[in-house]
Amino acid sequence: METADVDGKVVLVRSDLNVPLEGSRVADDTRIRAALPTIRSLLRRGAREVRVCSHLGRPKGRDERYAIEPVRARLAELIGDERVSVFENTRFDPGETANDERFARELADGCDLYVNDAFGSAHRAHASTVRVAGLLPAYAGLLLLEELRHLGALLAEVGRPFVIVSGGAKVDDKIAVLENLGSRADEVLIGGKMAEDVRSSNPFSFDVVLPADIVAAASFDADAETQVTAFEELPQGWLGLDIGPETREDFARRITGAQTVFWNGPMGVFEWPAFAAGTFAVARALAECSGLTVVGGGDSVRAVHEVGVADRISWISTGGGAALELLEGKELPGVAAIPAA
Ligand code: 3PG
Repeated sequence: METADVDGKVVLVRSDLNVPLEGSRVADDTRIRAALPTIRSLLRRGAREVRVCSHLGRPKGRDERYAIEPVRARLAELIGDERVSVFENTRFDPGETANDERFARELADGCDLYVNDAFGSAHRAHASTVRVAGLLPAYAGLLLLEELRHLGALLAEVGRPFVIVSGGAKVDDKIAVLENLGSRADEVLIGGKMAEDVRSSNPFSFDVVLPADIVAAASFDADAETQVTAFEELPQGWLGLDIGPETREDFARRITGAQTVFWNGPMGVFEWPAFAAGTFAVARALAECSGLTVVGGGDSVRAVHEVGVADRISWISTGGGAALELLEGKELPGVAAIPAA
């Protein structure tokens, strides 16, 4: 977008302002803040109007619980410029997810150019991310470019050792991305519930590092009785809810010694203090690593913020599914729709 002449122009910006809400309040404004550099740059360079659009949640048609108003209010607080307006939730119109030309024309109406800055939505072929790019001169926004640059770096030649840390509940969601990245990594460390699946049958074409010990709980409860056991010796009926102290140290050592690290997915049920130590140890180790450190996926991002080390991570992606699809090696339709400069 920096090559575009925006002076006096009306610019349609697609951002990903799909943020968590608590009632009618924005619970986490990270994505709104991440959208600011592009909007500010357009304003600074003389745009007459910046019309921002985004989806919010997954409403099926008009649904007041997903009205964009709280997002609009937060953006207005942060930007305070009357040249900026925000469209209603794009998913209130069924034409959005249908990638429909009529809805794209409504969005484009009266605009001179289009900037796609919605990295988090770039894996969706929707009217506001794809169709509209065929109706107006289309450019990539600053956040979109930064995401592609940092995540793309993991797919090119990387500093070694290259360590991947993955966790979370389900291995199925991550097989494709771990297979693509992991086959080029030096070590793949697996924690979380998915470690149990991988232990019983490794779905990957390479060996992975599994926890040596775990924090086991007598029941799925924040205050459950706990014990540390060898991963192989989980007592009958007990649940593994975090990696154990030996594994924490081992994973932290491998992470701090790496030159490139990608982390996606918590090591345990870190919402509960008794089972947070593993995930927090990984977050701290990334902060201590002097190489390139990249975090993707909502839970790991949240953990990095909770530990207070976000400013010591090289790149925290705003994309969930989009980041994973990119790292799987898939083309992102929202990116592909922007013509090369
Ligand atoms: C996300 O939160 O990952 C993006 O905003 C995409 O949302 P979606 O999965 O509802 O398309």
